[in-house]
Amino acid sequence: MNTGSLRLIYFSPTNTTKKILEGIAQGFKAATVNHVDLTPPDAPEREIVEVYNGLAVIGSPVYIGRLPDDTILRLQRVKGNGTPAVIVVLYGNREYDDAMLELRDLAVKAGFRPVAAGAFIGEHSLSTSAMPIAAGRPDEEDLKKAREFGKMIREKTKDMRTPDDMPLIEVPGSFPYREPPSMPKVSPVTQETVCIKCGKCASVCPTAAITIGETVATDQSICIRCCACVKNCPTGARKMEDPLILQKAEQLFTNCRKRKEPETYL
Ligand SMILES: Cc1cc2nc3c(=O)[nH]c(=O)nc-3n(C[C@H](O)[C@H](O)[C@H](O)COP(=O)(O)O)c2cc1C
Ligand code: SF4
Ligand code: SF4
Repeated sequence: MNTGSLRLIYFSPTNTTKKILEGIAQGFKAATVNHVDLTPPDAPEREIVEVYNGLAVIGSPVYIGRLPDDTILRLQRVKGNGTPAVIVVLYGNREYDDAMLELRDLAVKAGFRPVAAGAFIGEHSLSTSAMPIAAGRPDEEDLKKAREFGKMIREKTKDMRTPDDMPLIEVPGSFPYREPPSMPKVSPVTQETVCIKCGKCASVCPTAAITIGETVATDQSICIRCCACVKNCPTGARKMEDPLILQKAEQLFTNCRKRKEPETYL
């Protein structure tokens, strides 16, 4: 079967998931690589993408040990038609809990056949220079592991005639998936004195929660706290200032310092 073409399918507001998928693609050395970027706010209304051949690599960040609702919503726009797939979850050096199992099951529901899986580490959304949490990851070492994983997937899939030649990949996690604790509806704020109204924050927001006018307004009810706006603001005007979130960031900074390494399942 033709596994020479790769489809990278991802929701990735701060791009760490995307970087790992690109690393896997480099190692796989596919003849063609196509991106299905499910991050922009219009993704849930786009035409359905039908995937019929090649290999898909499906990636999502981990939010509170589960998949973000946005990954679940957006993956409804992709149909696998039996295409083999690699499942990748990206987490911020705490834990990925049930997210890998949830993504595997979601991929099956979308018509894919998951044959390999990986958990990689990316800079935590709440990481700052004062309280770094997996700052700068994925780094060169992580990307090297992503490329090696890509190479191993190529070896595993090269003699495959049909996806049924390979068993469904077993991954860690428990079902029913753990209920995540509820989080306060808060969003980053803008220091208007430092803001230059460039609009970058609005252009990277995956839920279109930001409107630039006289001031920078954020619709808290649809903000998912991905911190893409904070990380992309050129002047440092966007910040998370909610005391509960800052307390959470401090706990992560204190408790999640030990470097975790990528895990792969083949
Ligand atoms: C609301 C929220 C919840 C998160 N929960 C977890 C978690 O449970 N475990 C973890 O290690 N990282 C967690 N993270 C960190 C993200 O998984 C991490 O920043 C990831 O690299 C983001 O992926 P992206 O760059 O593709 O958007 C969370 C981030 C957000 C915004
Ligand atoms: S990215 Fe920063 S500087 Fe630009 S509009 Fe948004 S808050 Fe202002
Ligand atoms: S406003 Fe909320 S959803 Fe939009 S980029 Fe910022 S943190 Fe993410």
